[in-house]
Amino acid sequence: MKKMSAFYPLVLGADNPLLRTNCSPVTKFDTELEEFCDTLLALMYEYNWVGLAAPQIGETIRVIAVTKREYPSNKKKRRIVGEYIMINPEIIKHTQNTLLGEEACLSLPGIFGDVKRYSSVTVKYQDSKGKEHIEKLTGYNAIVAQHEIDHINGILFIDKAIGPLRDE
Ligand code: NI
Repeated sequence: MKKMSAFYPLVLGADNPLLRTNCSPVTKFDTELEEFCDTLLALMYEYNWVGLAAPQIGETIRVIAVTKREYPSNKKKRRIVGEYIMINPEIIKHTQNTLLGEEACLSLPGIFGDVKRYSSVTVKYQDSKGKEHIEKLTGYNAIVAQHEIDHINGILFIDKAIGPLRDE
């Protein structure tokens, strides 16, 4: 069987217009959307990555996938225990505390930089059935969610990086 990535090639490059689009809200919660969410998740795991946003696979809609880690602030014990599919996600609350951490992005291969993120965010989003959820994320889970929400606003981590970017 062909891998999913053969059908949805990764969108690459800091200047790619698909990655610089303020993505459209999802208004239709149908089977097509459910299939798209399944595809986004399957690709995130195929790439062995921690999050993925719809524009990275060519759809400029407000859908993101974020892995869920147990012990999200303990590097040694960080373990994937599930994932979130967030449709029309919005940060409705955040701490003032920030964390500075190294980030990378599937769409910008080989580039690393340090980004300051809120250490905890409360995200309001819909699931693929349109049901609303409110979730508080902390540590690594919060960082990934902020990175992916930036994607659907056309923002890349290199825009926010503090200090010089690094090559692999
Ligand atoms: Ni990214």
